[in-house]
Amino acid sequence: MTMRKPIIIVNMKTYLQSIGEKAIKLAKSAAKVSEKTGAEIILAPQLADLKEVAKIVPAYSQHIDPIEPGAHTGHVLGESLKDAGATGVIINHSEDVVPFDDIKKNIEKARSLGLTTVVCAPSAIEAEEIAKFSPDFIAVEPPELIGGDISVSTAKPELIEETVRGVHKVNPNIKVLCGAGVKTGKDVKKAMELGAEGILVASGVVKAEDPEVALMDLSGACVEK
Ligand code: G3P
Repeated sequence: MTMRKPIIIVNMKTYLQSIGEKAIKLAKSAAKVSEKTGAEIILAPQLADLKEVAKIVPAYSQHIDPIEPGAHTGHVLGESLKDAGATGVIINHSEDVVPFDDIKKNIEKARSLGLTTVVCAPSAIEAEEIAKFSPDFIAVEPPELIGGDISVSTAKPELIEETVRGVHKVNPNIKVLCGAGVKTGKDVKKAMELGAEGILVASGVVKAEDPEVALMDLSGACVEK
């Protein structure tokens, strides 16, 4: 029997628990847990920590701007992410919503640099629209559950199923993730049983008493292929 292991993207947001030395510590834990469980663990740290984190585990940027090299003070240049060792980017997180047209531009920019694209959507309808741009991943996250204690897979299982169905109708190669309120391996397993490939998680890891223990629990989830 072959088992499907989860993909876990830890969005480290702007939590104090996830910056500087703590980012490095979390990266070392993630590498260890990934090695032990076979789960794919990716961290999305603050930009200032990206280069160091990327030396230890796969690292994605939390943001990219649809710009070319030149005079764009304060913007995030894809080439710079690539140079720092990032292998992917998160686009359109509900805390960092971008105009719809820019989603497409960001995907194209990231893709031209060989960066994996994870685009967030708040609903199944929006996920289906985004699927037309063919990102690598679409992560459905109901904003009202973000940062809470009730997992999307418990509160809104139908949202995960609908998103998987809608996205795969447009493009069956896009992998669907879900996020918001995910805290345990049980939440991850449920999400995978509903058709998700894994999760996007923040507080359940970053704010956990012991992030390594939390990661171990989340990574232990696996379902039959
Ligand atoms: O990007 C992940 C995120 O928005 C979910 O946050 O704290 O509910 O795991 P959290």
